[in-house]
Amino acid sequence: VNRWSLYQALSCRMWARSALYQSSGAFGFRDQLQDGMAFVYAEPQVAREHLLRAASRQFREGDVQHWWHEPSGRGVRTRFSDDLVWLPFCADHYVNVTGDTQLWDERATYLDMRPLGPTDHEVYDKPVVSNEAGTIYEHCVRALDRACTTGQHGLPLMGGGDWNDGMNRVGVDGRGESVWLAWFLVATLRRFAVHADLRRDADVATRMRKRADDYVTAVERDGWDGAWYRRAYFDDGSPLGSESDEECEIDAIAQSWSVLSGAGMADRARQAMQSVAERLVRDDERMILLLTPPFDKTTHDPGYIKGYVPGVRENGAQYTHAAFWTVLAAVGLNDRARAFHYYDLLNPFTHARTAADAERYKVEPYVVCADVYDAAGHVGRGGWTWYTGSASWSYRAAIEGILGFRKRGDVLTIAPCLPPEWPEAAITYRHGEATYEILIRNAVEGTPASVTVGSVPSAGGSIRLSSERGTHRVVVQVG
Ligand code: GLC
Repeated sequence: VNRWSLYQALSCRMWARSALYQSSGAFGFRDQLQDGMAFVYAEPQVAREHLLRAASRQFREGDVQHWWHEPSGRGVRTRFSDDLVWLPFCADHYVNVTGDTQLWDERATYLDMRPLGPTDHEVYDKPVVSNEAGTIYEHCVRALDRACTTGQHGLPLMGGGDWNDGMNRVGVDGRGESVWLAWFLVATLRRFAVHADLRRDADVATRMRKRADDYVTAVERDGWDGAWYRRAYFDDGSPLGSESDEECEIDAIAQSWSVLSGAGMADRARQAMQSVAERLVRDDERMILLLTPPFDKTTHDPGYIKGYVPGVRENGAQYTHAAFWTVLAAVGLNDRARAFHYYDLLNPFTHARTAADAERYKVEPYVVCADVYDAAGHVGRGGWTWYTGSASWSYRAAIEGILGFRKRGDVLTIAPCLPPEWPEAAITYRHGEATYEILIRNAVEGTPASVTVGSVPSAGGSIRLSSERGTHRVVVQVG
């Protein structure tokens, strides 16, 4: 966690943007924004610089380049519906953790480029830097105003795809809707509204909260399938990710984000994650699938995802990026037994313990891989190592999820989700010149929660961080 995940995220994802499986060099709008979030503790400047870079790849109209190459800036303008939302989502996290509210007032220019024609799905071109600039806060408002569309069920339009790049034809005609995107928007709108409050921008705060509430109503009304949330609606109005589907009956991300957004109805979110446990978690093969069953024969065209062999990559394999969201959702439910168990299933070391395991897994056990196949004859084989957005999320799942490390400016709280059989866990955290030796004692029947720093009990259970040289011993007793 301390070494390889960060090394993978920094060297391969932020710097090289290239590996054996894909020599790209491009920045993906949603990709490096998420990757950068691994550095908010150890090297926040990496995250900050990239937030500014990403904002400068936004068009005046609010949409963004799906990917671009530097130094020319050439890239694609598309109808992907989620890309732009990652800017406020990640800016919120960066500002909360670092306390650097000045980020909102930094300025970045907008881009100009010809808009997509009615029949264009994407255009590859070199945009020009416009003569208009705005603060990062304004870039985020513009992104959210543009992203908040509504279709016939009141859900956001899926456009040319959402986080799952391969589902690029579900809503390509402009009518299909995405349940996952609704959760993601709800999460982002509500978090962003808090920053709007702090800036006394009541109009924006009210607008964002109202939209979030409307999406929640729409998902609970039309997105629930009976034992889990649906994934989307196709252009023709039929559901995707429903028990009535023979392929892609259930998709993990519509479930995990019902928890990560904090917005799913409590009993439904719990039931949804139970369905994930029953249908998508494979203990024996040590994997957590993205969706099941894979697309194969359906005449309903979800997009290029169907071009992958069933059980490979997004098409029903373990897609590790999303699998870490499943881990974090288990943490969100405080499911102590499952959270670390899921994390451990994804840990590459555990796929190469014996010669037979290594023979099956076949790839490097010291970095996370983008996918683990579930295709006949290749079950358990890893693919697309190194160049994967799961590196950064694997770090966050361990630090923020399992260990519950929650830094907000210079206030630290520890709210762990340790497996019941662990007696304790420990973190060494360097903050400026100070070192915090944090011992976490797991919950014991009858022992109340407490936090002591040195020998002083901390009121409210949080730790006020100092940057001055010295070692501080912290004991956290989990309640
Ligand atoms: C790839 C893309 C990423 C996308 C994911 C899921 O990793 O780079 O942007 O979200 O696949 O399709």
